[in-house]
Amino acid sequence: MAATAAHVNTGMPTRALVALVFLLGLVSLSCAARLPLSKQKFEVQKHLKRLNKPAVKTIKSSDGDLIDCVHISHQPAFDHPFLKNHTIQMRPNYHPEGLYDESKVSTKPKQRTNPITQLWHVNGKCPEGTIPIRRTKQDDILRASSMKRYGRKKHRTIPLPRSADPDLINESGHQHAIAYVEGDKYYGAKATINVWEPKIQQPNEFSLSQLWILGGSFGEDLNSIEAGWQVSPDLYGDNNTRLFTYWTSDAYQATGCYNLLCSGFIQINSEIAMGASISPVSAFRNSQYDISILVWKDPKEGNWWMQFGNDYVLGYWPAFLFSYLGDSASMIEWGGEVVNSEPDGQHTSTQMGSGHFPEEGFSKSSYFRNIQIVDSSNNLKAPKGIGTFTEQSNCYDVQTGSNGDWGHYFYYGGPGRNANCP
Ligand SMILES: *[C@@H]1O[C@H](CO)[C@@H](O)[C@H](O)[C@H]1NC(C)=O
Ligand SMILES: *[C@@H]1O[C@H](CO)[C@@H](O)[C@H](O)[C@H]1NC(C)=O
Ligand SMILES: *[C@@H]1O[C@H](CO)[C@@H](O)[C@H](O)[C@H]1NC(C)=O
Repeated sequence: MAATAAHVNTGMPTRALVALVFLLGLVSLSCAARLPLSKQKFEVQKHLKRLNKPAVKTIKSSDGDLIDCVHISHQPAFDHPFLKNHTIQMRPNYHPEGLYDESKVSTKPKQRTNPITQLWHVNGKCPEGTIPIRRTKQDDILRASSMKRYGRKKHRTIPLPRSADPDLINESGHQHAIAYVEGDKYYGAKATINVWEPKIQQPNEFSLSQLWILGGSFGEDLNSIEAGWQVSPDLYGDNNTRLFTYWTSDAYQATGCYNLLCSGFIQINSEIAMGASISPVSAFRNSQYDISILVWKDPKEGNWWMQFGNDYVLGYWPAFLFSYLGDSASMIEWGGEVVNSEPDGQHTSTQMGSGHFPEEGFSKSSYFRNIQIVDSSNNLKAPKGIGTFTEQSNCYDVQTGSNGDWGHYFYYGGPGRNANCP
């Protein structure tokens, strides 16, 4: 923690603000620490009551999660003052058509992949008119650096492929292996990602694979919509691979959060819970399981929609949440990210993706396939001028390719610490 504080405190206005936010976090943490135990307990209970909405039914998942089926109009989004009179849109006005018919993809036996669902489905279903929400437990909040920071990213974590400030890239120990496009107006993105359960060395580290829909410059007002899978012991209290989303309209400062942990995203789907475990996951040299994620902008209402797999339209981020993304995205990124907290002064052995390097290929390495963008005519198109980026290719790497079945794809990831990444 001390290292982080020293690092952000280097004088630039950006960093000063980050430092301030960070210090406020510390202050609230130390206040919490000084509160009498009963008072702290009371505050945590109050926060839990705000987060967890009354459930019509609760489903217990074998991973220990409680999935609350909450009436659709009682979901966290409607705590937002701007959404008090909101009429829920039960379907998008427009659905972009793709280049690839998913049912026809992967005809080669060697590359057969399987669809997946969520672990809690084994134990029940949410009734119509409700949405499944992973219940936040007291321990979830107590693991966070402060109650206010629970469900939020600690640092700016956007990979900056062309940044002239390498110091910023390495600032918080976040490492990436990504493919990206920029320089056009984008109205969405899609990818099919195989799912793994990377090993995390330390609870304060994480490993994720996601797409980023980015608007604005990399300043204080960066807009971002993110979705994918993650393993994050800090956030969830275990090492399971979970479906997640994130959004921010001010570079991770005051707005946004993971999943439904703040007001913003409006969920309409009764079958998929954000933050819930994905099952099964891919096994090395064995069955491969992948998920498709599509995020696109409704040309009529301007809301950003998200679809999981071919069947599940999850819901939408209302247009008013964003500034730049109110118009369009200026950059799309796909790939992996881990935190390297340099335990023992060495590179972390936290894995990205499968923990294997891209050159090992199918069933060993992790992939994004059929990566596409939504263009200004609202059609899914192959991305043009794909770039790649990684901070230390000896730790985590990325390799792009294209063919008929998989369109544009890339393999990415790695083991972290190894002989070439000390
Ligand atoms: C919601 O609707 C009520 C009654 O029509 C109105 O008085 C109120 O200002 C509206 N609130 C918002 C935030 O639009
Ligand atoms: C990040 O830090 C590592 C280790 O200090 C260094 O090797 C690498 O070049 C840095 N990356 C960038 C993009 O500056
Ligand atoms: C998560 O994995 C780490 C190491 O891989 C292990 O030390 C830890 O006990 C695991 N945590 C849980 C909650 O299973």
